[in-house]
Amino acid sequence: MTTHLKRHLLAFLPFISLLVTLTVTAVEPPKGFPEPLNTKNFKEELSKGLHIIDFYSPYCPHCKHLAPVWMETWEEFKDEGKKLNITFSQVNCIESADLCSDENIAFFPDVRLYNPSGYLKSFTERLKTKESLIAFARKESMDPDNLDIDLGSVLSQSQHLEGFDFIKLIAGKADRPYLVSFWPTKNLKDSDDSVNFENCDKCHEFQRTWKIVSRQLISEDIKTGHVNCESNPTLCEELGFSDLVKITNHRGDREPKVALVLPNKTSNNLIDYPKGFSVKSKDYVDFARRTFANSKFPNITREDLITVNRRIDFLKEKGPSYNNDIHLVFSYDPETVVTEDFDILEYLIEPLSKIPNIYLHQIDKNLIDLSHDILESMYEKINYNTSEAQKNFNEEYFTMNTVTQLPTFFLFRDGDYVSHVYPGYSTTEMRNIKEIMRWVQKYSNPLATEITSSNLREWMSFQTESYSNLAIQLVSTGSDKQIKGSNTLIRKLLLASFDYEHVRMEDNFEQINDKRTNKADSIKLLKEKKAPADKVVDKMREEIPHIDNNKLLLGYLDVSKERNFFRRFGIIGDHKVGDVIIIDKSNNFYYTKDNFGNTLTSNEPLLLREAFVSLNIPSKALYSSKMKGRLMNSPFHNAFSFLDIVHQNGIYGYLCIIILIIMILKSLSLYKKYKIRKHYRSKRNAVGILGNAEKKKNQD
Ligand SMILES: *[C@@H]1O[C@H](CO)[C@@H](O)[C@H](O)[C@H]1NC(C)=O
Ligand SMILES: *[C@@H]1O[C@H](CO)[C@@H](O)[C@H](O)[C@H]1NC(C)=O
Ligand SMILES: *[C@@H]1O[C@H](CO)[C@@H](O)[C@H](O)[C@H]1NC(C)=O
Ligand SMILES: *[C@@H]1O[C@H](CO)[C@@H](O)[C@H](O)[C@H]1NC(C)=O
Repeated sequence: MTTHLKRHLLAFLPFISLLVTLTVTAVEPPKGFPEPLNTKNFKEELSKGLHIIDFYSPYCPHCKHLAPVWMETWEEFKDEGKKLNITFSQVNCIESADLCSDENIAFFPDVRLYNPSGYLKSFTERLKTKESLIAFARKESMDPDNLDIDLGSVLSQSQHLEGFDFIKLIAGKADRPYLVSFWPTKNLKDSDDSVNFENCDKCHEFQRTWKIVSRQLISEDIKTGHVNCESNPTLCEELGFSDLVKITNHRGDREPKVALVLPNKTSNNLIDYPKGFSVKSKDYVDFARRTFANSKFPNITREDLITVNRRIDFLKEKGPSYNNDIHLVFSYDPETVVTEDFDILEYLIEPLSKIPNIYLHQIDKNLIDLSHDILESMYEKINYNTSEAQKNFNEEYFTMNTVTQLPTFFLFRDGDYVSHVYPGYSTTEMRNIKEIMRWVQKYSNPLATEITSSNLREWMSFQTESYSNLAIQLVSTGSDKQIKGSNTLIRKLLLASFDYEHVRMEDNFEQINDKRTNKADSIKLLKEKKAPADKVVDKMREEIPHIDNNKLLLGYLDVSKERNFFRRFGIIGDHKVGDVIIIDKSNNFYYTKDNFGNTLTSNEPLLLREAFVSLNIPSKALYSSKMKGRLMNSPFHNAFSFLDIVHQNGIYGYLCIIILIIMILKSLSLYKKYKIRKHYRSKRNAVGILGNAEKKKNQD
């Protein structure tokens, strides 16, 4: 059946392509639209900045389809492109066949990114639209890896290390930190060498990354080195990189590995780069810089932390550093601390290296009053609406949540008014690395985190028992002006979330108080009933569980970079900068409209807060919840619930359901008939066979 269909389609293919060719008529190029580049001017043109180049043939149907899109894109982007130093260009591969063969063009149209030193990457999105091309241009123009243009003339700073050199480093002979890469070859002396890597598709690209990393780390006083695994098989196997020693399959999926050696230490000094393989130099530079910094447990001052809640510009206009760091502070009393108390810090370096953005510090002070003051200042912020009842700081709840002794850990996040205290009641808790890390993990999300197509699933499953919803602010970073506006949007989202946080804390407080009252009541009851003493004591010992759920996870999505996000996750409708999407992490329902059916946006922080409350703590909501969710990727493109159909369509809804039920029953009865038929048929067959056998027997 399907092959039949395919054959039919194939027969029509020439007609379809003819149709496409006929409908795509030549479009007049806009004024000033440049001639295609050619062999003569290609190199010179490239030297002027970044280029996105469409390698095409005037005869290929897809190229003809792309042509008007390309012109429009060029026209719309040319001014912005001048600012960003990136140009849309073309090469006609029929006229400049040599050039295209030099550039290894294998199909048309091939859209690629170049910088002055040559090919960088291909544009791989299937749909080549004006929007997707411009999004690509913006994203790539901001990527420091592409901007680093004079690479051709600079040498890699990475040192070639033999196995024994590396062993010396981990034996404590390193006086500087070393970031070391491991390669599936024995021929890489200089890390720039042109080497034939086997089964490692990414190796060549990674050489470029490594050169940039080696140069950027010079200013951090971090050295770089590289090891040939095929020449040092035992070492690489010991390190767990045995796939770099020999080829075990026929795929090209071997990837270089990276690890950091910390200086002047003989133990806990080798830290693997924890994330999956990446070709972004920034990832390795950040990892090395942050892990080295953490390994020194630097002092931090109270003054540094006082401003933490004011660091709210999550999107920086230029450069890679965001203000969404997390600060883990070891706080001790210099009078009572003992040297062993500091040992725990050593064991934190490695697990912390796996969490992006987290910085470790120490301070010889108790930070409880700082935590208190910062949280108290939140109330100035959320009492912005004079027609609402005054919201008050709850001293009792704060005290309940900050019971600890020193030393302990405090955790502050940039932009956050709420800080966290590790319940370090005694040395038992303070020396339990697992418990400490479990506690850190719970707050290891930056206050507002960038959501992308590739990390959405990860954040959806982040600490599900504490965080029930993910609220995503749509932002855009196409220009400085948009970045400014987007920072304002994130600030409004934060305002709504702090306002919600107050409701959430009050609700938690009430729940805990209810439990306390219940406990007191049952103890009283036991005593009255003259229950045995051990029963009463057991009840008294019973701990009231710490309640800290219904939290919000906050994120922002850059729509100028993430064109396919909504389609990919089946979030339907139009979504624009300023809108907020709330996703229920427990069931993948998402919400784009508030209680009144208006689009959720951070421009109305009060309504946004109400949406948060309605979804998580309905008993505290001002309006009864009429919020309608849709299931992500639902084929029904609507709420996946019969009740909802009825709710929206009244009597017709019931009709729909009845028809649906009839259809189901019908298909069931068809199935039953089919089964009966099948049953009889098999009987007949069996009889037939037996019959034959019978006959045969009789004949014998
Ligand atoms: C654009 O890039 C080129 C090539 O690297 C460089 O020489 C030029 O200064 C850049 N122009 C601007 C405006 O940044
Ligand atoms: C490691 O020790 C050496 C010698 O004691 C010293 O010169 C160097 O600064 C130390 N390096 C670091 C990063 O502490
Ligand atoms: C950190 O602070 C402590 C206590 O104030 C002080 O003794 C120590 O020298 C400081 N360390 C550094 C590296 O500044
Ligand atoms: C203030 O609160 C009132 C009542 O809840 C509401 O109607 C009004 O829109 C709010 N104003 C602002 C600026 O949020």
